[in-house]
This record gives sequence, structure tokens and C-alpha cells, in this order.
Amino acid sequence: MSKVLVTGGCGYIGSHTVIDLLEQGHEVISIDNGINSEIDPTIDRIFQITGSKIINHKVDLCDFEDTNSVFDLYKNIDTIIHFAALKSVGDSVTDPLGYFHNNVTGLINLLKAAEAHGVSSFIFSSSCTVYGEADVIPVTETTVWKPAASPYGRSKQICELILEDFNKASQMNIAALRYFNPAGAHDSIKIGESPSQKAQNLVPVITETAIGKRASMTVFGQNYDTRDGSCIRDYIHIMDLADAHTKAMIFLQKHTSRGILEVFNLGTGNGVTVLEAISAFEEVSKSKLNYILGEPREGDVVSIYADYKKAEMLLQWNPKRGIKDIMDSAWKWELARNKK
Ligand SMILES: NC(=O)c1ccc[n+]([C@@H]2O[C@H](COP(=O)([O-])OP(=O)(O)OC[C@H]3O[C@@H](n4cnc5c(N)ncnc54)[C@H](O)[C@@H]3O)[C@@H](O)[C@H]2O)c1
Repeated sequence: MSKVLVTGGCGYIGSHTVIDLLEQGHEVISIDNGINSEIDPTIDRIFQITGSKIINHKVDLCDFEDTNSVFDLYKNIDTIIHFAALKSVGDSVTDPLGYFHNNVTGLINLLKAAEAHGVSSFIFSSSCTVYGEADVIPVTETTVWKPAASPYGRSKQICELILEDFNKASQMNIAALRYFNPAGAHDSIKIGESPSQKAQNLVPVITETAIGKRASMTVFGQNYDTRDGSCIRDYIHIMDLADAHTKAMIFLQKHTSRGILEVFNLGTGNGVTVLEAISAFEEVSKSKLNYILGEPREGDVVSIYADYKKAEMLLQWNPKRGIKDIMDSAWKWELARNKK
């Protein structure tokens, strides 16, 4: 069994992955400074589901000494899964330096501490934003990058380039996982997406509008060259995504040669328009959503979805859930967390 340091373990994807790791018998330690998560409620929710109370260190990865000192507390951390980053495309446009500082400095500090403490496997949360506006979709891992559409996307490109160079000088095994659009909640509906900052991803914006936290929502762009004029994305269920991390960890650990670097797309291969996503929500929730069609938003690409054959082949992973499962669980989670 592995001893895994999860950064961003109290965030959305991190917390669901922590649950999967604990359920598979691994030991988990978290670093999360709480900039976009509710630390104590999340640890409680993880406990309710798994019976394990994880320890979170409230440390900012941009502080090297504090980050390094977490490694000094534990012996034999063998794997790092690095989720911690700022993730809002829109905010990154108005605060590019803040995004580069947090996402790039955080990665460098973590790699330095990991190298100094003999960590053997490193998994990085990348994103389909690295592809920019790709010429051909679905994108494969070898699709040539276009300029990133936002500083957030560029921060992920820079982080991947850093990993590439680091890999040439290190014995660590590395996987960069390019997520498409993670959404939905845990099957138990005891945990789901609950950012402390304003939600900006489509699915929580939909559920927050439906429950009345927002009066209405805007679909950004109505005249794109797509089947209904709205952007196309590839929504991947959070349970499928969490499962991919545990599989990627096992893949890296099984690998006999040291110092490998593999990149994997994690999506479903199905492009769904924003309007189709709304209609899937309306169908599962049996309600009408209050939305307006608005102008395109800076930083958005028109259309992207994944070719995930590489993950299927090397990680024996494939997504099991679709857009309606995503909307169903996200809606049940929104209802559950508002009852409390
Ligand atoms: N959710 C998505 O749509 C999506 C898509 C592609 C890639 N990603 C990437 O996946 C990762 C996880 O995303 P998420 O949706 O779980 O986001 P999230 O905001 O829910 O989780 C990130 C966590 O990291 C913490 N954090 C941020 N900066 C930190 C720092 N400097 N030090 C310590 N903790 C810090 C936050 O408090 C938060 O709990 C991120 O790297 C994100 O860029 C997310």
C-alpha cells in the first residue's frame, strides 16, 4: 500500500480522489491552505464515507519552508498527487500574476521538497486547456498545443514544460493527467463540489441557479460554429476521474524503469454543448432552468473533447458515466447540501 501526499486534498477533485485512495487501502496525508475549500467539513465528509480521518496541513505551497517541513514529519511518502492550484479561467484573465505565482511556484516548491525526500511517483493535475483552440478534435496527447486561451491555461502549459525538463534530470516517475470538464458528485451524495470562492464551472452554476442561489445564469456565446451555437466541452464524472488517479498511481509504481513521464487525456470522448448540458439537467431535475444567451467570454475555446485511448490502454481506465449521471448526482448534491 502507498503513502500518498495529496495537495488540494480538501478541494473538489482532491477530496473525491482521497476517498478512492482510502477505499483502496492507501494512506493519505493532505496539504491544503483552504483558499478554495472548506477544510473541516470536507474532512468530516471523507470520514463519513470512509471511516478514516485524514490529516490536512494548512500550508501554502508557495512557501517552500512550510511545504518542506510537512515532508520532514512523515517517513516514506512514495507518491504525490498534486491538485492544489487556482482554476478559474475568468479570474486568471484579471489576475495573471496571481495565477502564475500560485500554480507555478507551488509546483516548483513541491518538486524540490519531493526530490529532497525521495518521493518516487508524482501525478500532476493538468487540463485540456493546454491544447488551446485545437485544429482537430478529439485531441490526443500528441495534438500540438496552440496558444493557451487564458493565463490559467498557460500556467498549466508552463507546469507541464517544467515537468518535462525536471523529468530529464530526475528519477521520479511522473504522470500529467489532462482533465476535460470534471463534474458531478460522489455516489453517496455525501460530498460534491463546494468551493469557498464563487463557483464558475458550468455544472455548479446550473445547480446553483436551479436552487435559487442565483437568479439566472448566462450561456456565454450563442453564435459559435457548433451544432447549436454554444461551446462544446467533454464532461467527465468526478467518480470516473478519481478512479483514474488511483490507476495512474499504480501504473507509475509498477513501472520498472525509473524516470518515466506519461501524459494522459481524461475525458469521455463525447462533446456536449452548453445547451445540451442544460437540457440534460432539465430532464433529470424535471425543472426549467432560468438562463439567458450572452456574449462569448474571454478565455473560452469553442470546442474540445478527448481521445482517451491511451488511458484506456495503459491505465485500464475508461469512463463509466455520462452527462445525465453527472447532472443527476450534481443536482442531488445541491439539494442535500442546502438541506443542512
Ligand atoms: N475542476 C476543473 O474543472 C478542472 C479541470 C481541469 C484541471 N483542473 C485542475 O485540477 C486541480 C484540482 O481542481 P479542483 O476542481 O479540485 O479545484 P479546487 O479549487 O476545488 O481544489 C484545489 C484545492 O487546492 C487548494 N490550493 C490552491 N492553491 C493552494 C496553495 N498554494 N497551497 C495549498 N493549497 C492550495 C485550494 O484550497 C483547493 O482546496 C487543479 O490543479 C485544477 O487546475 C480542474
